[in-house]
Amino acid sequence: MSLQIVPWDRLFDAAASAQRNAHAPYSHFLVGAAVLTDDGRIHAGCNVENASYGLSTCAEQNAIAGAVAEGAKRIAALAIVASTTAPCPPCGRCRQTASEFALPETPVRSRASTGEEARYTVGELLPHAFGPEFL
Ligand code: THU
Repeated sequence: MSLQIVPWDRLFDAAASAQRNAHAPYSHFLVGAAVLTDDGRIHAGCNVENASYGLSTCAEQNAIAGAVAEGAKRIAALAIVASTTAPCPPCGRCRQTASEFALPETPVRSRASTGEEARYTVGELLPHAFGPEFL
């Protein structure tokens, strides 16, 4: 799964397309995300805010939830785009969610509006992850 060649261009295109649908009237912080699953499919999501702020969901959460709803269980790569001048790393909750379906070496890339890109792995973003082995 982790040896799969990652089609980053297609992944970022999907994330950017979802970002255009972001519902972020409160933060004006537009985020798109796309996951490649181990079966080669791409699932995208955007952040969806709510007037009851605490109900807002992140782009990564929605992309991953979409993948799971379509029957995927393993994430091979994650791409994020944000309306920022510097690449935005995923929030802590999204790191934990990604960790549930990824390996520590699974690559994550984040791009700012400027095109600047940051590269991480899931393990770098969430060392000492809590997982099912502790249950
Ligand atoms: N947001 C994401 O979509 N992903 C992250 O990893 C960080 C934050 C969204 C949530 C909220 O709609 C807006 O960005 C500001 O926090």
